[in-house]
Amino acid sequence: MNLTEAIQTYLPQIEAEMQALLTQPLGEERSSAATYGPFYGMAHYHLGWVDETFQPTQADGGKRIRPLLCLLTCQAAGGDPQRALPAAAAIEVLHNFSLIHDDIEDNDRLRRGRPTVWALWGIAQAINVGDLLFALAHLALGRLEERGVPSDRVLQALRRFDETCIALTQGQYLDLDFEARAEVSVEDYLTMIAGKTAALLSTSAYLGALLAGATTATCRAYEAFGRHLGMAFQIEDDILGIWGEAETTGKAASDIAHRKKTLPIVYGLSRSPALRALYEDGEMTPQQEAQVRALLEEVGARNYAAEMARQHHAQAMAALERANPIGPAAQALWELAGRLLGRVR
Ligand code: IPE
Ligand code: IPE
Ligand code: MG
Ligand code: MG
Repeated sequence: MNLTEAIQTYLPQIEAEMQALLTQPLGEERSSAATYGPFYGMAHYHLGWVDETFQPTQADGGKRIRPLLCLLTCQAAGGDPQRALPAAAAIEVLHNFSLIHDDIEDNDRLRRGRPTVWALWGIAQAINVGDLLFALAHLALGRLEERGVPSDRVLQALRRFDETCIALTQGQYLDLDFEARAEVSVEDYLTMIAGKTAALLSTSAYLGALLAGATTATCRAYEAFGRHLGMAFQIEDDILGIWGEAETTGKAASDIAHRKKTLPIVYGLSRSPALRALYEDGEMTPQQEAQVRALLEEVGARNYAAEMARQHHAQAMAALERANPIGPAAQALWELAGRLLGRVR
């Protein structure tokens, strides 16, 4: 099975599992769909299923990398991916909760080429929709038991899921804290992205292996695979956050304007006094933003970050080798891993 075939097989299953989860299960008896329709509608909008008037549409709702990783890992570790489907849906719903809140936290009005939830319906409602997805993600995991996963594994999965939520929000805390912090080291940055991004990708692969009933050593190898993939993925995203085009990324390159301390910037600040002076100033004009980009290029910050992404990617591939994926999902998994790097070239 190649990646295209895997996407054709699994993406509709992932969508169906998420749709079942998001069809107002708790509101039904007490109210008509009209009462909470727009509430769920905002979540459906974010996931790409409806437009801003809640009419069905097929918009970009995200790449679904994490659930795909979970299902492919499960199959490549010798398990039945149907059993892992509730976990895959839970992971993607959690990811989307984090994005809705992240866009508020980052003051970003564009995601996946469309206005963000808060930009359309306000910050207060966007916080609330995020909370809905957060809770639904947990409920989704409960469905593992219905699929015949032994209850001790379900408990293990739930625990891991909650730990991942904490790691993610810890990472988000650091990301926001760094905006106002003068001194941020490369190590600080790596700690931050390990939390906000790599933790969930790592858990996606880990849970796939766990639900396949794989050995501890295999689970750990997949966990490391997901973690390094996540590190490489976020570093590339941070390169795109400075030099990316909104037409291709679907989001504005707003990291400089928001004084984010991403890898190219952390590296640049340690090497260019001119950049430090510019970055410490008040409001940044578009001309100053362009100057920041030029200074970063000059000190080699872009190449430095790209090289670091390549190193993590190589470590991810080595971990996948150790995990020794088998069967039809192995090819798709290798392909997915290969494609997750190189968005910036
Ligand atoms: C966006 O993740 C947030 C990061 C961790 C960089 P994705 O690029 O996987 O987002 P979608 O779901 O495909 O839009
Ligand atoms: C990504 O945050 C990680 C989470 C949402 C937890 P970013 O702020 O770096 O990602 P984008 O660029 O908005 O997708
Ligand atoms: Mg953001
Ligand atoms: Mg952010």
